[in-house]
Amino acid sequence: MQPDFLRAPLPGLGTHACRIGLSATYRPGRETVKRALDEGLNYFLFFGFDTHMTSVLPDAIAGRREDYVLATGAYNLILGHQNLRRTLERRLRQMKTGYIDLFHFFGVTRRKYFTPRVRDELQAIRESGLVRGVSISTHDRPFAAELLREGVLDAAMVRYNAASRAAETEVFPLLPDPRPLVVGFTATRWGQLLRRPRGYPETGRLPTPGMCYRFVLSNPAVSLCLMAPGSLREFEQNIAGIRRGPLDEEEMAFMRSFGEAVHGH
Ligand SMILES: NC(=O)c1ccc[n+]([C@@H]2O[C@H](COP(=O)([O-])OP(=O)(O)OC[C@H]3O[C@@H](n4cnc5c(N)ncnc54)[C@H](OP(=O)(O)O)[C@@H]3O)[C@@H](O)[C@H]2O)c1
Repeated sequence: MQPDFLRAPLPGLGTHACRIGLSATYRPGRETVKRALDEGLNYFLFFGFDTHMTSVLPDAIAGRREDYVLATGAYNLILGHQNLRRTLERRLRQMKTGYIDLFHFFGVTRRKYFTPRVRDELQAIRESGLVRGVSISTHDRPFAAELLREGVLDAAMVRYNAASRAAETEVFPLLPDPRPLVVGFTATRWGQLLRRPRGYPETGRLPTPGMCYRFVLSNPAVSLCLMAPGSLREFEQNIAGIRRGPLDEEEMAFMRSFGEAVHGH
């Protein structure tokens, strides 16, 4: 059955989730997190420093924990990486919860950073009973598909937007069956998809933020798209746009051609 555009069970986890996940990395305000809850968002990515999220969620979801998907993780650093287990325990305390739904190892820019040690630490986390799934965020897309096929990961977080479409060839067709959870990030390409690229006509049409998120969600291989608004106003504008549903043919053609213009600069 074709899942709803904005709500679908998450592969592997089963939780019926809003396909827009919220991140409070850009400090959108506590009100934004509360509004997101009111709007039915239930996938939250948090890092620990994003206090607008960590101060609101524990009380808001208490008693209904199974209705929410909490995602977090540890970072690959320039030298070494955060200890995965200690980071997980800290995040559990911050969110006052007994488990994390999806625990990521973030920032695997190249496969060499997914060392045998990291692999073992992540597997230990996977078997700890404290998480429901493990994932990496990576710029080495073929590696993500490889790990998903090998069953090393339950999910992967990959860059995908109208100007960065490599996942369409390097990840989506290579996913195992049944499809794993795929989270898209950088839908707006750090805002570049909202601005005129160099050489673009002054009065040329620009995508709305909503169109950027709808572009990502229109791809059935993407389980969920992250959104990191900078304010309540941005959040409201984005949600109103996203509720328009999948891009139609003309909008999709425009997003692809605008994405190419952005990619070329
Ligand atoms: N693991 C990795 O390698 C990796 C890489 C990238 C991102 N991430 C994480 O993924 C999460 C999601 O980030 P994302 O980049 O995917 O989020 P996003 O929602 O695609 O992008 C956020 C950017 O879009 C702009 N934006 C959003 N709505 C807007 C609006 N209505 N009007 C104007 N500008 C708007 C914001 O601009 P303003 O800030 O100017 O408001 C912000 O710069 C974050 O937690 C991020 O840290 C991880």
